[in-house]
Amino acid sequence: MEPCDEIDLLMNKVSICDRCKSFTERLSSVPGDGYGRAEILFVGRAPGKEENIQGKPFVGQSGRLLDSLIAELGLEREEVWITNLCKCYPEADRANTEDEIMNCMSYLLEEIRLINPKVIVVFGQQPNKALLGIQTNLTAHTETYRDASDRIYVPMVHPASVLKDASGRMQAAWESRKEFLKDLWQRQSELNK
Ligand code: URA
Repeated sequence: MEPCDEIDLLMNKVSICDRCKSFTERLSSVPGDGYGRAEILFVGRAPGKEENIQGKPFVGQSGRLLDSLIAELGLEREEVWITNLCKCYPEADRANTEDEIMNCMSYLLEEIRLINPKVIVVFGQQPNKALLGIQTNLTAHTETYRDASDRIYVPMVHPASVLKDASGRMQAAWESRKEFLKDLWQRQSELNK
């Protein structure tokens, strides 16, 4: 079976998942979406209200900020993979429980394995903690990480935090990490030529 077929099968499983109680809160689960052989993958925390209605990740306000980041990398949404740590809307945008994260984590790890991107951008505290064990403030975070398959992980503040923050700190962190990512992506694209 081709990896693209396998990812479709996996996302079908996500759409009917009832592993934890959050399936009782959702309208629709929100599987990852995009190009099944994408070289760059973006991970958020969990769907918001709009994603819960449409069944697609990052289609609300945060999604518009993500779209502008994707465009600045010279890419279209159809060329990347967009997903979340947790695939169901947590009612009233509450934080996800350890149980939900544990139940959903195997989907995310399998998505990463099947899509096999070169770069993984990880948005916000909970996904960074779950995937990379990072618990420090992301506004000051400048590290990247590599896994055993040489994929590069780039922790970044969450688009929703940028939109909510009036102090400008999140926006500044977003902008500087964006420049870093653009540079990394350009170097990575040149390596692949
Ligand atoms: N925030 C997320 O973390 N994911 C989405 O899909 C939308 C908003």
